[in-house]
Amino acid sequence: MTLKDQLDKIRQERKEDIKDVVDLKKLDSLRVELLGKKGPITQALRGMRDLPADERPSFGQFANSVRDELQSAIETRRDELKKDMLNKQLEHEKIDVTLPGKPVAQGQPHVIQQIIDQIEDLFIGMGYQVLSGPEVEEDKYNFEMMNLPKDHPARDMQDTFYITKEILMRTQTSPMQARTLEKHDFSQGPLKMISPGVVYRRDTDDPTHSHQFHQVEGIVIDKHITMADLKGTLELVAHELFGDRFDIRLRPSYFPFTEPSVEADITCFNCGGKGCAVCKYTGWIEVLGAGMVHPNVLEMAGVDAEVYGGFAFGLGPDRFAMLKYGVDDIRNFYLNDIRFLTQFSKKG
Ligand code: DAH
Repeated sequence: MTLKDQLDKIRQERKEDIKDVVDLKKLDSLRVELLGKKGPITQALRGMRDLPADERPSFGQFANSVRDELQSAIETRRDELKKDMLNKQLEHEKIDVTLPGKPVAQGQPHVIQQIIDQIEDLFIGMGYQVLSGPEVEEDKYNFEMMNLPKDHPARDMQDTFYITKEILMRTQTSPMQARTLEKHDFSQGPLKMISPGVVYRRDTDDPTHSHQFHQVEGIVIDKHITMADLKGTLELVAHELFGDRFDIRLRPSYFPFTEPSVEADITCFNCGGKGCAVCKYTGWIEVLGAGMVHPNVLEMAGVDAEVYGGFAFGLGPDRFAMLKYGVDDIRNFYLNDIRFLTQFSKKG
């Protein structure tokens, strides 16, 4: 058999082989086998040296055409196999859009956040701004500018975690009073602000104490604000958050940053005011501290206390949530047990 006949045989036989290959990997090894350096075509081209010179061009042409033919057969087969694979895959992965979907579990805001959201909505409706302040706070704002100088005895009630002597985890949201008073431009109108956030105390956790809890601070400063405005505002909070049958009662109290100071009670959630074990048979439950902002607080923040004045209050959403839902251990709010938290669905 001449070299040419040999090549022709390879062409015919191997073309059939190519058509029979059923996977891409095998097709690739066949390509290497046929067209690679050690393949029959390369070999034949090498053997051309032994041919008489006048036969070489036509043999070379023939060998090249065999190579092209095999190459294009391989490419055709590759395309076919790829198409087959895709079709099989598409068939396999067919999506039945009529099948019922898998429900996505929907989250919800934490119960304390739900209460804060309600309070925010209410106050935004009355034209207050909502601001948040730093939890890592300066002694200056947390205490000094709130009329609690360095050796003030009332500091004892609010021991906290100190970062340095002058930097601490804030014990109350009240420093936001000083921070906003300092910046407020009264020529633009009154200051009306609430500030929700987390506060810290060096307390041992028990059913009614947590070393970390929430507060919402509120402050209104303008020219003719009276205690009646404070009471009206607190009554509105009680009615909006809990319902019309809830009333507010103010009792004299003491806070260094207000004068006079009050403690506000709300109608007992449990008995509606009749008297029960929850309210210690008084019909009232203490929910927040408030008062008329102390002139010292205004003056230290650069506000003329002869001209401007107003009220402030600080309430605890944790306590609100405990009372509203009858939760008897504040620690439940911070354990992140999903079984506990999902009870307070927003809809329910
Ligand atoms: N900051 C006080 C506390 O943590 C609560 C408070 C009382 C805030 C009276 C006020 C206020 O704004 O007027 O105990």
